[in-house]
Amino acid sequence: MKGPDELMVQSKIADTYNAETRLRIELSLQQQGVVILSPMDIFDSINLIKALGIMPKATILDPWYNKGYGGVKYNYREEVIAILNICASISDHIFLWGFPEIVAYFVDKLPEPLSLVAWLTWYYKNNPSVIRGWRSSQNACLHLARPGARLYPEHFLNEAQKAKQAQGKLRYMPGPTSVIEAPLLVGFVGRKEQTGHPAQKPISVFEPLILMATEEGDLVFDPMSGSGTTGEAARKHGRFAIICDILEEYTQIAEKRLNVERISI
Ligand SMILES: C[S@@+](CC[C@H](N)C(=O)[O-])C[C@H]1O[C@@H](n2cnc3c(N)ncnc32)[C@H](O)[C@@H]1O
Repeated sequence: MKGPDELMVQSKIADTYNAETRLRIELSLQQQGVVILSPMDIFDSINLIKALGIMPKATILDPWYNKGYGGVKYNYREEVIAILNICASISDHIFLWGFPEIVAYFVDKLPEPLSLVAWLTWYYKNNPSVIRGWRSSQNACLHLARPGARLYPEHFLNEAQKAKQAQGKLRYMPGPTSVIEAPLLVGFVGRKEQTGHPAQKPISVFEPLILMATEEGDLVFDPMSGSGTTGEAARKHGRFAIICDILEEYTQIAEKRLNVERISI
């Protein structure tokens, strides 16, 4: 067993490492807007962010969906709940993606102090018909938040509404719809945006999440970032982003897409 002196030395080393790593991340964020961490498992990246004392305003969780591509994991539900638990200690807003029948399970099992803000739907009509049966045309996203987390529906006002608001004549704040319509990036659709990642989401699907949950200059975190859509959507709207994926192949795709080199941890 380690004595108190040895433990003290270890915690000083950890403190120095944390301070140095946080500084590197902050500098890169200032310079590039997006930080790509070297590939690691989601539990490692979330715990790292937490240990460094970084508090992203919003965290986007877009895992494999426990059916189809990515396969089925026997402990998927337990893992997602454990992930939500840690995220709840660092982020005001959490967005959990999945097929409706997969995320429905979590609605009444949310860890404290999270609650459901909205059930969002991404609706797409252009999924190629490859199975015998219902052809999937939607993904769900649970918008979860801690008590007091601020929403920003004003970010969706058009110019006419902004003018009315400035004159004090906007009678109510119209929110965006909870159904996001955008075609799947498949075949010729969204060719310029496509990166080769097998489950890449369109930027236009992540933009409303970021706009509703953050202001310019806020930080967004995505620990299962795939091709880096979160990084691109955040940067487009003047937010900062830290992203990470477990696979080297997808980390390289994100580096190329965002023109940012990873930070080695
Ligand atoms: C649905 S995709 C995300 C797609 C991404 N939103 C995009 O638009 O490109 C899920 C990603 O989670 C990553 N992933 C799976 N298991 C992971 C884990 N344990 N830790 C971190 N990332 C993981 C996969 O490599 C994959 O890129």
